[in-house]
Amino acid sequence: MLILGIESSCDETAAAVVEDGRNVRSNIVSTQIEEHKKYGGVVPEIASRRHSENILKVVRSALSEAGTALDDIDAVAVTYAPGLIGALLVGTSFAKGLAMAAKKPLVPVHHIAGHIAANYIAHPELEPPYLCLVASGGHTLIAEVLDYTSFKIIGRTRDDAAGEAFDKAARVLGFCYPGGVQIDKAAQSGDPDAYKLPHPAVTGSEYDFSFSGLKTAVLNIAHNAEQHGESINAENMAASFQKTISDILVSKTISAAREYGYKKIAVAGGVSANSAVRGLMEKRCRDNGFRLYLPPLMYCGDNGAMIAAQGYYDFLAGKRADETLNAAATMPIDGEPPLVGEPPQANRVVSE
Ligand code: KG4
Ligand code: ZN
Repeated sequence: MLILGIESSCDETAAAVVEDGRNVRSNIVSTQIEEHKKYGGVVPEIASRRHSENILKVVRSALSEAGTALDDIDAVAVTYAPGLIGALLVGTSFAKGLAMAAKKPLVPVHHIAGHIAANYIAHPELEPPYLCLVASGGHTLIAEVLDYTSFKIIGRTRDDAAGEAFDKAARVLGFCYPGGVQIDKAAQSGDPDAYKLPHPAVTGSEYDFSFSGLKTAVLNIAHNAEQHGESINAENMAASFQKTISDILVSKTISAAREYGYKKIAVAGGVSANSAVRGLMEKRCRDNGFRLYLPPLMYCGDNGAMIAAQGYYDFLAGKRADETLNAAATMPIDGEPPLVGEPPQANRVVSE
């Protein structure tokens, strides 16, 4: 079965054709990073405009690179939530029009479920149930992947996402957006024990995260140094910051796996590209006898292949949308009401 996946939730316009949820026939990503860099972060209006300009080109390339005509596609899968609302609307509107015109089923895909599904592409043997750490620019959570389409969150961030913390700390260190990858690079030549950063405690839930204090800690150390006429060593701070954040992410995930009895752990989202997170997770999984699944670097960030992969399993589960499908900026992956903002408008997501 061939699924066309379309992704436009943030600053990548992406489309891919994936066979049976696992075999990538094409994967086209048009990134807007260079443009948003000038502003130090994603400017939503610019993102929406660029998606509108690029989406047709990107989808056409995905089809032609896969050697498929639109007619050969079995369903159109699209990210409908969560993300930047204007950006999501470009993808969902395009997908609705395409599916209706081509008379193909339309499958609404949750962006985080898509990130998790990136692991199916690289690991044909991976099947639920397993535990997944999702760490991206907008989300950080530990989820039980009960089956391909049902998830239970057992921990989440109370404030900043891990990727957001990387990006904010990078800004303090003078690196350009997106900072996560810059910190990773700088950390290679830094001493991870040079600066002591806090492991913020979260009361009430052992598996929840809090990252906003980390950025403040970096800022305070930088200001203190400035007041003494000194400056911090950016490589050392990058390495210390990266060590702290990977320690927090990995320790909580390993403890959760032990408590909940999981022997398979996956990692997903942009931060799963981080070398310290990957390295430490590998070590701790080995020590504990857990099997670890990491996405290849090209599938860590936003892409269409992960949406097509998840779209395949959503399709098999009977998930469908019609022309009334709406995008939603926030949407919990496990059916709980959103933590912030207004409840998303109801979607007519119909099951067969
Ligand atoms: O999953 P993603 O592409 O987009 C969202 O859904 O948010 O994640 C983007 C985030 C950014 O915050 C970026 O700085 C971070 O992932 N990131 C990294 C690395 N590569 C990307 N963070 C740390 N180390 C990296 N190598
Ligand atoms: Zn993402």
